[in-house]
Amino acid sequence: MLRSAVERLTWRTDVLREGLIYLSENPTARRFVRRAPGARTMARRFVAGETIDDAMNAARALNQSNMSVTLDYLGESVRNRDEARAAAEMYLQLIQRIVNDQLDANVSLKMTAMGQDIDEGFLDENLGRVLDLAQQNDMFVRFDMESSAYTQRTLDYFYRLWNGGRRNIGVVIQSYLRRSAGDIERLNQDGVRVRLCKGAYKEPASVAYPEKSDVDANYVKLAQMLLDHGTYPGFATHDENMIRAVREYASKIRRDPSTFEFQMLYGVRRDLQQKLAAAGYRLRVYVPFGEAWYPYLMRRMAERPANLFFIVNAVVRESPFRFLLGK
Ligand code: FDA
Repeated sequence: MLRSAVERLTWRTDVLREGLIYLSENPTARRFVRRAPGARTMARRFVAGETIDDAMNAARALNQSNMSVTLDYLGESVRNRDEARAAAEMYLQLIQRIVNDQLDANVSLKMTAMGQDIDEGFLDENLGRVLDLAQQNDMFVRFDMESSAYTQRTLDYFYRLWNGGRRNIGVVIQSYLRRSAGDIERLNQDGVRVRLCKGAYKEPASVAYPEKSDVDANYVKLAQMLLDHGTYPGFATHDENMIRAVREYASKIRRDPSTFEFQMLYGVRRDLQQKLAAAGYRLRVYVPFGEAWYPYLMRRMAERPANLFFIVNAVVRESPFRFLLGK
């Protein structure tokens, strides 16, 4: 009986998760949630704010707690040239501010925010300016990985830059994808810095493992490949089992903890972030900011549907129906 209750609950959570990922891509839901009172307040739990000053303040506070930062200006799937140019402009300002304020931070960006869906020449123009400024300031730029429709294109584009001599760049590999071991093998051989995560998009079983246990087992396998041969890998996860597996394997093969880092998202498992930093591990927090917080927030909800109750609570609290919550 207990087993069937657990199965029913797991099924419901899976349906909720898929629904949230669907909503993250739905424009009507986006308009509705962005206008909902309280939604912004909720977003602040996972997003540093809407302005560059908000991002700087969050980064400074994290640096003071002994954590490095990677800053992400929110935006993706941009199909309008002005918007893509504006995103590149924002990254230029961001890099300049990180340098001026002497923060321990780099940047993460999505190629679709810079014009990948418009045309590659245009992407070159936008990204080229950002990468030049980063390079002049000895700053690393991470290309986030989006859905599997972009994996090959993103890696091909990355390799075009790499083979053209760019070295201040790195990619993200997702352990839910069946192809990832092959990708890591090649990236390791070339000395590319990889961030390893589980993956946050809705993918068909033909390309991604549908079962969490397989995604986790693959994460551990890929993490070991990165610890064996990778160049300064970043292990992006809040999963204590994954973190333990990385720590144990690193110590087994005597890999120095200063040659890799853990990465976590702003506002997620802050207790664990502090614990790892206090234990002497390198920890980088991914700090998103900007007005386009909706799809990012929905993906965080999908990862942990319990977060949904925070948002419902925050929305109701600022609405005419707040009496429903009592005092
Ligand atoms: P899992 O989802 O199994 O969660 C393990 C535990 O962590 C949960 O039980 C819960 O305690 C906690 N947790 C996880 N997510 C939470 C949340 N949202 N709120 C509260 N608690 C939560 N994905 C991608 O496709 N492309 C990318 O480029 C990136 N980049 C990236 C950078 C960084 C620094 C991180 C940490 C993550 C990403 N991701 C990503 C997202 C990643 O793929 C994945 O969706 C999330 O990290 C959740 O997976 P976990 O490894 O944390 O494990």
